[in-house]
Amino acid sequence: MRQQSDTNGPGHVAIIMDGNGRWAQQRGRPRLMGHHAGARRVREILKACPDHDVKYLTLFAFSTENWKRTQTEVAGLMTLFRKYIQREAMSLLENGVRVRFIGDRIRLDEKLVSLMDNLELLTADNDLVHLTIALNYGGRDEVTRAAKRLAYEIEMGRLTHKDVDAETLARFLDTHFLPDPDLVIRTSGEARISNFLLWQSAYAEYEFVDTLWPDFTAAEFGRVLAKYGQRDRRFGAVLA
Ligand code: IPE
Ligand code: IPE
Ligand code: MG
Repeated sequence: MRQQSDTNGPGHVAIIMDGNGRWAQQRGRPRLMGHHAGARRVREILKACPDHDVKYLTLFAFSTENWKRTQTEVAGLMTLFRKYIQREAMSLLENGVRVRFIGDRIRLDEKLVSLMDNLELLTADNDLVHLTIALNYGGRDEVTRAAKRLAYEIEMGRLTHKDVDAETLARFLDTHFLPDPDLVIRTSGEARISNFLLWQSAYAEYEFVDTLWPDFTAAEFGRVLAKYGQRDRRFGAVLA
């Protein structure tokens, strides 16, 4: 069931960091340049989280559909993820950030997966901000993998079909350790979900901004959060 955060602000913000490619293209540079610029943005947004009572920040970094891109772009992104982890690990540790990854690790290379595992271990005792990075993540893929594991538990006789409800299924999702997102932000002007947190966002608020991700500043982040604060969330009920 939905775990509601205990602050007035959005306790859990999820961001679809879109527009890196266009940002680079506008400057006549290769798309990968945009991805590097995008990665540099993360630090500033992360740093702003405690000021706004954002305890959980979830970032969409690579989707299950992004493998359809050119080999050069995919390889460049994978290298960027490795470098990002190596470069940022100490600063994340020292700044109280607990990092976890969601998505299917099976298609990621071993070196990257071991860096991901190590970063999760290294920061496991931190509690100021919980950063979740979605890498090779797709909502449908996640629900399908969860259903498969649930079916396996039933096959093994550890559960029966009567145990299958929303709460049980959610325990098998990659996000089992996370509250549902309160607010989902997408940059770059596209107003679609692109397979991000399909199950978890059932009652999330959405904010679509035109800014390309490498230009998304902490100031704009603050404005989006302030706008969220003015919304009425009803969860299907009638307000008293
Ligand atoms: C988002 O930026 C980052 C990833 C999908 C990895 P894009 O690469 O999708 O940028 P645009 O949408 O082409 O501008
Ligand atoms: C969604 O952006 C995935 C990430 C931001 C990682 P895309 O750029 O891949 O989505 P579409 O193709 O525009 O739907
Ligand atoms: Mg895009």
